[in-house]
Amino acid sequence: MIELKGVYKEYASPETTQAVPVLSGIDLAIDAGSSVAVVGPSGCGKSTLLNLIGALDTPTKGQVILDAQDLSRLDDRSQSQLRNQKVGFIFQMHHLLPQLTVLENVLVPTLANKHADRAKDTVRAKSLLEQVGLQDVTAHLPSQLSGGQRQRVAVARALINQPKVLLADEPTGALDQATAEQISDLLVEIHKTQGVTLVMVTHAKSLAARMDKLYTLDKGRLVPSAENRKLKTEN
Ligand SMILES: Nc1ncnc2c1ncn2[C@@H]1O[C@H](COP(=O)(O)OP(=O)(O)OP(=O)(O)O)[C@@H](O)[C@H]1O
Ligand SMILES: [Mg+2]
Repeated sequence: MIELKGVYKEYASPETTQAVPVLSGIDLAIDAGSSVAVVGPSGCGKSTLLNLIGALDTPTKGQVILDAQDLSRLDDRSQSQLRNQKVGFIFQMHHLLPQLTVLENVLVPTLANKHADRAKDTVRAKSLLEQVGLQDVTAHLPSQLSGGQRQRVAVARALINQPKVLLADEPTGALDQATAEQISDLLVEIHKTQGVTLVMVTHAKSLAARMDKLYTLDKGRLVPSAENRKLKTEN
């Protein structure tokens, strides 16, 4: 479903003329329907990696293949189309639009669909909001929600276009322990029941342990971790 071949990413540094390498030769294959956690210290390039997989950014070198499509061969428009149709993003800071209601926020990704059926989309949005336990606050604004509720809106929004791939960047990072566990349970359940391919960046060991595979990003490279199997059998 997802394949990275020799992916490099460097950024221009504001301080020096030298480019700063962030990812230095990433090879990764993720099967359809499986789940992967990526861990590593702050600044090691985890968000950069997710952004490349989700066609939000382009590598300096190498290939990213998403659902059999080589992203480097697509123009900007086709890339955003692919992203919109196949990828759901959950960001660390939910990124909800403050002036829109909960229901409207969930519907935002459908606005780019040319042949959208508004009535059908609304029914689906309401059903997703029910799945994440927010059926009673659909007319609220994000400012009228708790942090955990906002993150649940973000989960529903990520799923509205029935993506094949769900990318989650520290989805529980801004939440207290109990709320983080609720969101973790929700994501694991969605992964299991909807067969979506899940790639997650997280600092939460317990959540990482629930994914099929665990990688550590270290000095620009991905190191598979044996720890996951151990953690899994301990659970
Ligand atoms: N647009 C950019 N321009 C220049 N440098 C950038 C840019 N985006 C990220 N970087 C640098 O790339 C490195 C990796 O950033 P990234 O956001 O991927 O880290 P991260 O692993 O997600 O960290 P965190 O856990 O804190 O979210 C950092 O050193 C950062 O300063
Ligand atoms: Mg990050």
